[in-house]
Amino acid sequence: MADLEQFKKNWLRPFLFYGNNTISLIGGALTSASALVLVGFWVVDFLGHGGSSNPYLGIIFDLVLPGIFVLGLLLIPLGMWLRQRQLSAAGQIPSIYPAIDFAEPAFRHGVNFVIVATFINFVIVGTASYRGVAYMDTPSFCGQSCHVMSPEFTAYHLSSHADVPCTSCHIAPGVQGFVHAKVNGTKQLLMVMFHRYPEPIMAGDKIPSAQVTCLSCHNAERNIGDKLLVKTSYGDDEKNSMTYTMAMVHVGGRDSFGNLSGIHGAHLGHIEYVATDSNHQTIPWVGKTNPDGSVTEFVSSDTKGPITGEKHLMNCIDCHNRAAHSFLTPEEALNKDMAQGRPSRSLPFVHKEGLALIKADYSSRQDAAVRIPSALETFYRTQYPAVWTGQRAEIDQAAKAIVAIYSNNVFPFMKVTWGTHPNNIGHNDYPGCFRCHDGNHNDKTGKSITNDCSTCHNLLATDEADPKQLAAVGLQ
Ligand code: HEC
Ligand code: HEC
Ligand code: HEC
Ligand code: HEC
Ligand code: HEC
Repeated sequence: MADLEQFKKNWLRPFLFYGNNTISLIGGALTSASALVLVGFWVVDFLGHGGSSNPYLGIIFDLVLPGIFVLGLLLIPLGMWLRQRQLSAAGQIPSIYPAIDFAEPAFRHGVNFVIVATFINFVIVGTASYRGVAYMDTPSFCGQSCHVMSPEFTAYHLSSHADVPCTSCHIAPGVQGFVHAKVNGTKQLLMVMFHRYPEPIMAGDKIPSAQVTCLSCHNAERNIGDKLLVKTSYGDDEKNSMTYTMAMVHVGGRDSFGNLSGIHGAHLGHIEYVATDSNHQTIPWVGKTNPDGSVTEFVSSDTKGPITGEKHLMNCIDCHNRAAHSFLTPEEALNKDMAQGRPSRSLPFVHKEGLALIKADYSSRQDAAVRIPSALETFYRTQYPAVWTGQRAEIDQAAKAIVAIYSNNVFPFMKVTWGTHPNNIGHNDYPGCFRCHDGNHNDKTGKSITNDCSTCHNLLATDEADPKQLAAVGLQ
């Protein structure tokens, strides 16, 4: 009891005495009002009523409201310090601080002030937050802020990660990642509001390390062994001739005896590189850490002058950069869909016509959705009247499929088109593996990073009409 009295006398009384000034009282009211609004929203969110999945709401609940809260907290000592300075200059510091007593008019006035100001602030901050949330949930806000992500959003729904939240790969776990994401979210929102975002949006160096994202779900060393790749392609002839490419890709991993092998085993943990562009497409220097700790350096023979720049330790994303939202090449996309029967192979020249149509320029997706079907119709009506009358349903279906291929991969309003976002797996459509394995990156002895086809895969068939291996593995 004596301790409490002592505390009141030595701490609480001076605190309330100096705190009884306009600045501190406003600070106290701001703090309590923003805390009330925050708690109110948390309760609503917890009960699940009116909760919103809008990713940018964090701006209100994690930045603006806590900001007001902290501002209020800072105003309290600021006001106290100013008052102390003022009183001390006037020689008015009391020897005994006034008791905490409602009979004291100054004390009563201070308490009343805080209560009334808290109420007013609560109404203002609460209404503003509520209106902010409501605005962010409107289609006009979303249409403007989310449409910049629409290419990735579209591709994502077609990927094997369609159930993995964007944040699992885009926000590093922990406080630092969280704060970074909030700051970035606010920055991005402002960029969208003022139309200052880049077109197209490129990842650059902004993706958190695979160590803290991919590896929270994937086992880096799992032994995958060989993976059979079968690709079906269609020709530009009247019959849309079908051919197969088959490769046994040596993915590898760590086997049960602890040995690393294959593609995964060759890189993880021991290859570093320097890139000259932010999307890591041009790689002049590669270093390999050998088992004895020495480093073998490989330098591209195209390099002139010394190589400087940050060294990156190779990880999943250096190869699987499009794991969650991959944009295809026109050929890849059309072959894939034709293998599933749409467009139907029975339509003469549908591969050739389809490819020309998805590669053509359109001013917008709406424009493509109108012009593609009409061009395909015109082609069959004029060139193949019998097909036009006999296979109307297939032609309609083909037109729909071709429009879908276009709209899943080309986004004129974001300047995302065929080839904008390279895929680093493979080497036929983009540099990919051949950024290093081009036979042109040599060590001191002149030995280059391997370019031998069979180190990476056994090619069982390349564009063959009827490979016997296909039958051998039971696919035909
Ligand atoms: C499985 C992990 C993963 C998920 C899930 C994921 N991303 Fe990505 N994202 C990446 C990686 C890796 C890159 C870097 C791509 C590169 O360097 O080519 C990237 C790049 C991007 C970019 C930059 C432009 C581009 O296409 O390269 C945007 C924008 C983007 N992601 C948005 C999203 C959105 C929106 C979602 C959710 C709908 C999402 N991402 C889900 C891994 C992911
Ligand atoms: C939240 C968990 C999670 C995270 C994070 C995650 N993945 Fe996956 N990933 C999965 C699951 C689950 C599958 C299997 C999906 C299936 O089989 O359909 C998968 C499948 C894959 C596949 C094989 C299928 C394909 O599309 O080729 C690759 C490659 C892959 N992930 C790479 C990555 C990379 C690279 C990252 C980091 C950028 C990553 N994953 C992050 C859960 C995750
Ligand atoms: C040097 C490039 C490279 C690196 C680095 C790499 N991968 Fe792969 N990965 C491949 C290739 C190539 C394949 C096989 C081709 C394919 O699936 O398209 C593959 C296949 C896979 C598969 C699919 C296996 C299946 O059964 O379909 C998964 C999952 C995967 N990798 C995950 C990862 C993860 C996780 C990491 C990081 C720890 C990683 N990879 C690092 C090149 C790489
Ligand atoms: C950043 C550069 C880089 C990239 C990109 C890269 N690699 Fe490598 N890779 C290396 C280096 C360096 C070695 C080691 C070469 C040596 O020891 O002579 C290597 C080794 C390998 C090996 C083992 C070779 C052997 O002789 O046993 C395979 C297999 C391989 N890489 C496949 C791939 C595949 C597949 C891709 C693309 C998906 C790829 N690499 C992308 C740098 C790279
Ligand atoms: C550094 C490793 C590596 C080397 C060397 C390499 N490839 Fe590949 N190649 C790959 C990978 C990885 C894929 C699989 C891409 C995928 O998953 O779609 C691939 C796919 C292919 C395909 C399949 C068709 C396609 O459109 O993707 C063909 C054909 C091919 N390679 C031919 C060759 C030939 C010919 C050589 C020798 C001159 C060679 N590759 C050397 C890694 C390599």
